[in-house]
Amino acid sequence: MALTQSGPARDGWSSRTAFILAAIGSAVGLGNLVRFPAEAGANGGGAFVLFYIFCVILIGLPVLLSETLIGRHGQAAAPESFRKMAEQSRRSTAWEHVASLGVFSAFVVLSFYCVLGGWVLYYIGTFLGDLFTTGITGGAFAGSSVEEVEGIFPAMIANGGMTVTLDLVFLAITIFFVARGVSGGIEKVAVYLMPAFFLLLVGITIYGMFGGAMGQTLDYLFTFEPDKLTGPVMLAAVGQAFFSLSLGVAGMITYGSYVGRNVNLGVTSGIIATADTTVALLAGLCIFPIVFAAGLAPNGGLGLMFQTLPHAFQEIPGGSLLGLAFFIMVGFAALTSSVALMEVPTAWVIDRFRFTRPIAAGMVTFFAAIIGILSALSTGSLAWFHPLGFLPMFEGMGVLDTLDTFTGKITLPVGALLTSIFVGWIANKRLVDSENGLGGGLHLFWRFLVCWLCPIALIAILLVGIFPSILGQ
Ligand code: TRP
Repeated sequence: MALTQSGPARDGWSSRTAFILAAIGSAVGLGNLVRFPAEAGANGGGAFVLFYIFCVILIGLPVLLSETLIGRHGQAAAPESFRKMAEQSRRSTAWEHVASLGVFSAFVVLSFYCVLGGWVLYYIGTFLGDLFTTGITGGAFAGSSVEEVEGIFPAMIANGGMTVTLDLVFLAITIFFVARGVSGGIEKVAVYLMPAFFLLLVGITIYGMFGGAMGQTLDYLFTFEPDKLTGPVMLAAVGQAFFSLSLGVAGMITYGSYVGRNVNLGVTSGIIATADTTVALLAGLCIFPIVFAAGLAPNGGLGLMFQTLPHAFQEIPGGSLLGLAFFIMVGFAALTSSVALMEVPTAWVIDRFRFTRPIAAGMVTFFAAIIGILSALSTGSLAWFHPLGFLPMFEGMGVLDTLDTFTGKITLPVGALLTSIFVGWIANKRLVDSENGLGGGLHLFWRFLVCWLCPIALIAILLVGIFPSILGQ
């Protein structure tokens, strides 16, 4: 096999539907299912959720369109696409470094994302084993005490051999698809797994509507208490919006670069953002009723999905099967996202060094495994290691939490801020307008959002959120 390739026709999505499903697959993931409910719980429910929706529509959506149009215009990996647009606008090519920062962030997110993917694999195995021992009808984990069920999580994350192995397994599944190419592998995962995902999600949510505490959930998620909307809560919401829409890490630039000229990016961006937000809200509506119905508190953090929820499945008839279905669904969503995350640096290595796809993906996997192992161990034997612990924002955080906070609260919003400035102010207007697919009033509104609202809101949120957090005020 040749080590390098010289410019044959570039691979791309086989249809508009394939692009939409793959982009939704990229956006919908652990961010929606684990991070969104956890952040909503940790930041007091309604205020966070409503500000989150505001961020998605007014900040996330315009940036999503900006990213896909840069990629579609460039038809190349993210930094090259940025450079092309800068060159054609007669601006400094240094702007490509915005995308380089994105590629770096995507790589970092990939490295810890697969650790979480590994945790999900563990729970799939646990519920599968339980299904065989407990059977279909009763609750999950029959005969186990609450402490035992909640103890599964700390025992798992402290077991470095387990977390490292499962991290590597999840990476291996991811590279299996990425190495097969855009139309041959990446879109196949999305086209098969996303419909299955939606069926499972809707099924479990409907179950919760009948059996769970829906009224309490609606109250919890949608009651707006303005005094809870502080700087850090706003920063958390905006960071979550970008993370969930896969923005600020050059992900949508990369996926956009495989889109044909005939696709209207304005419309597809709307579809992607709507689907992603719907899934986040459905995840809330699916998880909290089960939790409330079992009389448990919606305490935030990862414990929600990995401790509270398994305990809740104990109380529910058919809990083993439901739990298994639930974690399989989470696994599907995580895989379509990890594939997208790996594709960002892989596409860059292919374009930059002309390596073949399998070699490029292999290199990315190798380095992601090294950093991933540090993350996987950071909940156990490496827990003492707090790489940025001297800053209050990262105080007491191990490698995994540090990387998550560093990307979610700093590099993603900064990447998105610079992207909106680039598209709004730097790139040639006619060039941008020829790609965005928006007409009349919508076009003007989008321009207003990209030129003014996104940059100003992002700067303000970064100021009120990051600095107090960094300084610990
Ligand atoms: N959006 C993904 C999720 O919600 C995670 C993610 C963040 C991502 N950035 C990305 C996925 C870039 C693909 C590409 O889980």
